[in-house]
This record gives sequence, structure tokens and C-alpha cells, in this order.
Amino acid sequence: MVTLVSHPGVLGAACIAQVSGRFDRSGRRAARSLVAGRLPGQLQGAVQSRQIEFLAGRWCARRALRAIDPAANHEVGIAADGTPLWPPGFVGSITHTADFVWAAAASRRDAAAIGIDSEPIMTAARAHRLAPSIARPDEIARTRAVLGVDFAAATSLLFSAKESLFKCLSAHLGRAFDCLDARVVVSREPGSFRAMGIEGRLELDATHVHTGVMLAATDVPTRVARAQPVHRSRDAFRQADGRREAEVALGFGYGEVLVPPDQEHRGPGEERTGGYSQR
Ligand SMILES: CC(C)(COP(=O)(O)OP(=O)(O)OC[C@H]1O[C@@H](n2cnc3c(N)ncnc32)[C@H](O)[C@@H]1OP(=O)(O)O)[C@@H](O)C(=O)NCCC(=O)NCCS
Repeated sequence: MVTLVSHPGVLGAACIAQVSGRFDRSGRRAARSLVAGRLPGQLQGAVQSRQIEFLAGRWCARRALRAIDPAANHEVGIAADGTPLWPPGFVGSITHTADFVWAAAASRRDAAAIGIDSEPIMTAARAHRLAPSIARPDEIARTRAVLGVDFAAATSLLFSAKESLFKCLSAHLGRAFDCLDARVVVSREPGSFRAMGIEGRLELDATHVHTGVMLAATDVPTRVARAQPVHRSRDAFRQADGRREAEVALGFGYGEVLVPPDQEHRGPGEERTGGYSQR
């Protein structure tokens, strides 16, 4: 079903098992795997290409889970909204492109959530069309300046980073959010970015971008709790005068992107509003 290839190097934590490979969406091999594959009801009527990518993702996910827990034969289910249901005690994430598939998994003892995403670099026309719904002009300008890449690569990268954030955080936040709700700051430290108080990593090659974020198991209680009132605060701040309040709200109240160092937020008992680092 899947020919194993090395996975992108964006999730450094040793506690994460990762499996990636190339797969063929059509042809005899694909058809054979369909027969053997375990398709959930909601995908029975899907087009073959979608069925194959699903099975390829689950194949990688099972293999990653087996690397962590060889004694068990874990399966990854699917919720009505398409969210993958990882077995109790585990977290993970899946992404696929035209012929590439990648899954990452970890024990809940080590990670509270993971988000990975791979995207082909958009054409310039597509990037210019989609950019307004993906990122603000200054986000794209900074990404281009820091990484020395063109508009299409910068836009594709920001999109991928936000998809990883969404996959990592949406369950914890208990609601969906859009690309413009998150502000991604590509940092000068090669291969990393920050958004919503989380540190992520990125990889760019000639044709694709790969991103990954991990929420450490110890981090969730403080940050996610603070994130909750955003929608309310966004509206509230919109009424408030003064641009920065609104931006802080849109930055999910972490402020480290928007508040100059000397005015950094310090929560009770918190050293820095540092955000999540990949341990
Ligand atoms: C769900 C979504 C993130 C998937 O991303 P994509 O680039 O379309 O596709 P990918 O191949 O990278 O990822 C697909 C996998 O994401 C996983 N996924 C789907 N919904 C998910 C969710 N709510 N949370 C976590 N993972 C999810 C699934 O495993 C899916 O593969 P599968 O259906 O074969 O199991 C995207 O379709 C989506 O809904 N985005 C809207 C929300 C968003 O991104 N907002 C921007 C936030 S800043």
C-alpha cells in the first residue's frame, strides 16, 4: 500500500513515532489495498482516490502506534466530522498530499496534542487568489524576508502552519477557527515559527512545505483555558478603541507577538508568556 520514505524532520521530540511514505492513488496495487482495507461507513461512497488516501493514512498511523506499543494492534477511528479518533492514551495527526502520506503519534503521557501538515507549494496565481483568506500581508512579507522565499512559497508555508495548528488545537479549544484567527511569526531560528503561544517547525523543499506542532502534556491547562474567551474578547475589543487590544485578542491573548518585551504579560506565577516549546 505505502512505500516507506523518511519523514519530514519537523517534530524533533523523541517521544513521537512517525511513519511516512509514497502511495499510488490509482492502479492495481491501490485497488487491491481497497479490497483488503478497512473503510469506515462514511467513506464507502467516497471516490477511490479519497478511499486510498484514507487507507494510506491509517496504515501509517497503525504503524506509528505499533512503534510505541508493539503488543497492541491499535486502530484509528473517524468521527462524524472527519476528525481522527486516536485510541485511548494516544494522540496523533495525519496528512496526505497527492502521493505522500505521513502520520505521527505519541502517548498522552508525553504529548497532549500533535498537528502535522504537508502541502504542495501553490502556483503564484493560486497563492495570490487565496492569500487574503490565509494570512495578513505583514505575515507574508515577514515570512518572505526571513526565509528569502517568494510569495507562493510564503503563502503555502503559512497555510500549512495554520493547518497544523488547527489539527493540534481544535480539539482542545473545542471549536474551529480560521486562518486569519492565527498569526504565524516565522522566527529567525532556522526552521521554526510561533503562533498562538505555540512553537512549531517548518521544512521547505523545492515542491512542498511540511510543518509540525506539538502540545506538551504538561502545558495544556494554563494556555487553553486562557484561549477560550477569544470570540467574546474579539468582539469586546473591537468596541474598545486602540488597535493593540484587538490584535492581542486575535493573537489568542498571548501577546508575545504584539506586546513589546518590556510590556510582556506575566500571568500569576508565570515567568514568561513563553508559549509551548518542543521538549
Ligand atoms: C481538517 C483539515 C485541517 C485537513 O487539512 P488538509 O490540508 O485538507 O488535509 P490533510 O491531508 O493535510 O489532512 C487530512 C487529515 O486531517 C485529519 N483531520 C481532519 N479533521 C481534523 C480535525 N478537526 N482535527 C485534527 N485532525 C483532523 C484527518 O486525519 C485527515 O485525514 P483522513 O481524513 O484521511 O483521516 C482541513 O481540511 C480543514 O478543515 N481546515 C479548516 C480549518 C483550518 O484549517 N483553519 C485554519 C486554522 S488557523
